[in-house]
Amino acid sequence: MDLKSQIHSLEDDIRRALSGIDTQEALERFRIDFLGKRGKLTFLVKQLGKLPKEERPEAGKAINRLKSWVEEALIQRREELKDLLHQKKLKQERVDISLPGRGVPLGREHPITLVSREITEIFVGMGFEVSEGPEVELDYYNFEALNIPKDHPARDMQDTFYVSDNVVLRTHTSPVQVRTMEKKRPPVRVITLGAVYRCDSDVTHTPMFHQVEGLLVDRGISMGDLKGILTRFVHMMFGKDIGVRFRPSFFPFTEPSAEVDIQCVICKGRGCRVCAQTGWLEILGCGMVDPTVYAFVDYDPEVYSGFAWGLGVERVAMLKYGINDLRSFFENDIRFLSQF
Ligand code: PHE
Repeated sequence: MDLKSQIHSLEDDIRRALSGIDTQEALERFRIDFLGKRGKLTFLVKQLGKLPKEERPEAGKAINRLKSWVEEALIQRREELKDLLHQKKLKQERVDISLPGRGVPLGREHPITLVSREITEIFVGMGFEVSEGPEVELDYYNFEALNIPKDHPARDMQDTFYVSDNVVLRTHTSPVQVRTMEKKRPPVRVITLGAVYRCDSDVTHTPMFHQVEGLLVDRGISMGDLKGILTRFVHMMFGKDIGVRFRPSFFPFTEPSAEVDIQCVICKGRGCRVCAQTGWLEILGCGMVDPTVYAFVDYDPEVYSGFAWGLGVERVAMLKYGINDLRSFFENDIRFLSQF
């Protein structure tokens, strides 16, 4: 084949090859194949020398034309490919704005939060302030200053989580009574709410639960005030018709002490499984602050008197919402939580 027809057939080859190229890598392979040091076009250039002198200029021109054409075609194809890839990418990454979004489900407040707030509002409405205390508490506040001496059974390792010899996870909210009285002279009228911890776990006990504590100290406060305020609380919380009774009890930091029962909300006092056929359910412990406690905070028991109470928030929530397993509060099952 003479050089001229070789040039023609090469041109055909190139055209065919170029149109089939669809990646940058293939394009680079094409370039090396035709324009590289051992490329087909380069080979033709080398053949020029073998031609008779008079044929060389024309053949040279033809090859040069072919060469610049290929070079241009290469650049053009490179640009086209770039554009093609870009379009492809855009299509792949396209955001379909007509697609409906995924809904963000709205959370609900935990029943304990709801009941805590309701309890707080009732007492704030009666003129109580809200105060706070630490959950990791000194033995002194949790026990000692509440007239629970070192050998008292309530301090047994079984009930109390000890952090160290004189630091505990508070077992009740009563230490806040002492902290409050240390800082403030009477009249004192505070409630505090929060988590408390006891080393206890079964159907009716969880190692962490919540209490609301209340304290009222002033001149001339009597057991009658205690009864009045707590009865009013029960009626606001559970309704005016619910029966309330005060049962004598014992706490080291109150004297006299009582426990408050309300008429069973399930059977209305007739007797059922929930109230163990008694018709009554215990909801809180209370009493007149023991003078021993006043001694720790330097209040004169001859001048001041007052009362305190502590109630279990989970207990109130169970009765209010008719929940029969304490543990459901802490399992965080959305189906349970979304009912409130
Ligand atoms: N702190 C007591 C308890 O946890 C309850 C209580 C509080 C009793 C205040 C009397 C006065 O059982």
